[in-house]
Amino acid sequence: MTTPLLFTPLELRGVRLRNRVVVPPMLQYKGEAGLPVDWHAINVGRFAAGGAGLVFVESTKVERRGAGTVGDLLLSEDRFVEPISRLARVIAENGSVPGIQLGHSGRKARGRFPWQQRGPLERSPEIPDFDAWEPVAPSAVPFAEGWPAPRALELSELPGVIDAWAQAARRAHRAGFEVLELHVAHGFLLHSFLSPHANRREDAYGGSEANRMRFPLEVIEAVRAQWPEDKPLFLRLSMEDDAGWGPDENVRFVRAAKPLGVDAIDCSSGGTTDKPPSLPTVNTYGFQVPWAAKLRREAEIPTMAVGLIIHGDQAERILQDGDADLIAVGREFLHNPNWAVDAALKLGLDGYDVAPVQAGWWLSQRAKRGFGGNPSTWQTGRAADD
Ligand SMILES: Cc1cc2nc3c(=O)[nH]c(=O)nc-3n(C[C@H](O)[C@H](O)[C@H](O)COP(=O)(O)O)c2cc1C
Repeated sequence: MTTPLLFTPLELRGVRLRNRVVVPPMLQYKGEAGLPVDWHAINVGRFAAGGAGLVFVESTKVERRGAGTVGDLLLSEDRFVEPISRLARVIAENGSVPGIQLGHSGRKARGRFPWQQRGPLERSPEIPDFDAWEPVAPSAVPFAEGWPAPRALELSELPGVIDAWAQAARRAHRAGFEVLELHVAHGFLLHSFLSPHANRREDAYGGSEANRMRFPLEVIEAVRAQWPEDKPLFLRLSMEDDAGWGPDENVRFVRAAKPLGVDAIDCSSGGTTDKPPSLPTVNTYGFQVPWAAKLRREAEIPTMAVGLIIHGDQAERILQDGDADLIAVGREFLHNPNWAVDAALKLGLDGYDVAPVQAGWWLSQRAKRGFGGNPSTWQTGRAADD
């Protein structure tokens, strides 16, 4: 049997992933004053032990004022390096490659938890730095009704923000992360510079498409100067935001970004407005995959597909079709943190060899000794749904 592509190693610069299964960044809303707690280690550890090739730590903010909500992690100062390095260690010790996403929420900063009805946070004595936690953006255009107008960044402030990204990248390297992803999606700061809807600037950073690309490209360049040559750099993009930034714009952006040292694109969508996406396919299996395929083909860059990729056979088909090079599985890993072990078994591999030996040996013994039943997660896969 030939090894399924999903479980074929991939090399990017000097980093080798044991397979193509990626856990994308997922906020835990549990940081304390920007620092990770035990839960963050448990969370990333269970995904690494569950067989993923690459596990990303959540969107970690490059500036305090870029925090999306209470509980965000920070890499805005050197003192954050040592505590977050524990997460990189836990991932690596469990056989996976440690990645981290850097972010800045821009005009969507200072928000409520998703389960408390999304919206801006209200002033409260529990947030002593409420005023310093100021939403900033390319222009003073509020994210949605009920949100405050962000303060438009002065031209003279932009180099400082670019440097914040670069310094956070330097810290991510020092903390032991091997893959870095810049959050250029979901309506946050870098995406909002690209957006003709959110960016109404009249200087060199707004107006024409080339001008709107300037700030994110300068960030990428500054980050690359701090992020080692042998470590891969990913971007997460909103391939369609339903507000003027779509697939063709992204192809042009990636063609400009790639020569700056970008290695792969994580193809997501949405976030510029609070309107639900207009895509007819939005709640269907792999709805964002066609964009990963388009970008891979037209910008000639490795892509990561994400969004309702649920089953191993579904993931394998995306790779076999040449639509993407990596498969990110988010919420389904929350449902089943052993997703990669499970997918390997269902694709006909031993599977238990990607689990830590303390579990894998027992489980493979159980199978070898002729136990005739199936694991509790057993269902045949997407093919059964079609
Ligand atoms: C709890 C949770 C937190 C998330 N946090 C982030 C984040 O920090 N950065 C980001 O780019 N996307 C974030 N996302 C989006 C996921 O990375 C992923 O793109 C999305 O869940 C779709 O993939 P899925 O259908 O496999 O879950 C988050 C999603 C969830 C469910």
